[in-house]
Amino acid sequence: MTDLQAIVEDIHAALLPRRGEGRVADYIPQLAHVDARRFGIAVVTVDGAVHLAGDAEEPFSIQSISKVFTLTLALGKHGEALWKRVGREPSGLAFDSIVQLEREEGLPRNPFINAGAIAVTDLVLAGHTPKEAIGEIVRFVRYLADEDDIIVDQAVARSEQATGFRNFALANFMRAFGRLDHPAELVLGVYFHQCALAMSCRQLARAGLFLAANGRNPLTGHRVVSHLRARRINALMLTCGHYDGSGDFAYRVGLPAKSGVGGGILAVAPGKASIAVWSPGLNENGNSLLGSLALEMLAARTGWSVFGA
Ligand code: DON
Repeated sequence: MTDLQAIVEDIHAALLPRRGEGRVADYIPQLAHVDARRFGIAVVTVDGAVHLAGDAEEPFSIQSISKVFTLTLALGKHGEALWKRVGREPSGLAFDSIVQLEREEGLPRNPFINAGAIAVTDLVLAGHTPKEAIGEIVRFVRYLADEDDIIVDQAVARSEQATGFRNFALANFMRAFGRLDHPAELVLGVYFHQCALAMSCRQLARAGLFLAANGRNPLTGHRVVSHLRARRINALMLTCGHYDGSGDFAYRVGLPAKSGVGGGILAVAPGKASIAVWSPGLNENGNSLLGSLALEMLAARTGWSVFGA
C-alpha cells in the first residue's frame, strides 16, 4: 500500500460516520432519490496510479462539474473569442442567481455560474442540432476519461427539463439582451443533458487529469489543451468553481476545483493528481459538505495546496 492509498483510506474512514450530513439537492426531483449516505474518493496521479475509497466506482450525476468540460470544448472551437460572451470574475452570488445579470446586461460573470455555462453551451451548439451537440459533449468526455461507457442519465435530464424554471429565466433573460444565438429551449436542452452526465469518481478523476498535467492526458498521451490553457482553466476553477463559496474553498483547500449539486467535486493538484469526491449532502452554497471536508483533509495531508504546503 502506498502512502497515498493509506491517506485516501484514512480520510474515507474518518468521515464515514458523518455520511448523510448536509442537504441533498431536491430542486431537480430526480436527484432527491439519491442515497445521501454514498461517499466515494478517487485520486489519479499524473504518473497513472489510481487510489480509490468507498463508492468511487458508482456513477452519479456530475451536474455543474460538466461546465469544466464544455468550457474546454468551447475554448477549442472558439478560442479566446469566447470571452466576449462570458466574463472571468467570481460572482459572489449563488450559482443560479439572476440579479447580477440584469445589472450587467445579460453578460454572465464567469463560465461556471449557470448563466455563464448556458452562454458556453450556446457556443458549443453553433452549427449543430441539439442532438449533435449533446453527442459531441458525450464523445469529448469519453475521450478525456478514455472510457466508452459514460452516458447521460436521461431520467435526470428529463427531470431538469421539466422543472428548470430558473434556468429558463436566465436563458430567456440573456436572449432578451441578445447574448444567446439560439432559442433558450434549444440551448437548455443541451445544457440539461450535459449536467445529467453520469460518471463515477474514478472516471471523473481520469477526465480531469489533463488539467493536472499541463494540458496533456498522461494516460493516453493526448494533448487536450495547451499548457497555458490548462493553467487558465485551473485559475477559473480556483476563483469561480464553488460560486459564493469559492473564497472559503480556496482558504480551506487551496486547489482549483469544480462542484456539482449531485454532490461531486473535481479538484486539480497541478503537477500531482486529479481528485474526485462524491457525497450528495450539500452545504449552504450547494457544494458537497463531506466532499469539501475530504479535500481539505487531503490537501492538508499531502501538502498539495497551490498556496504552499
Ligand atoms: O442548472 C442547474 O441548476 C444544475 N443542472 C446544475 C447546478 C449545479 O450543479 C450547481 N453546483 N453546485
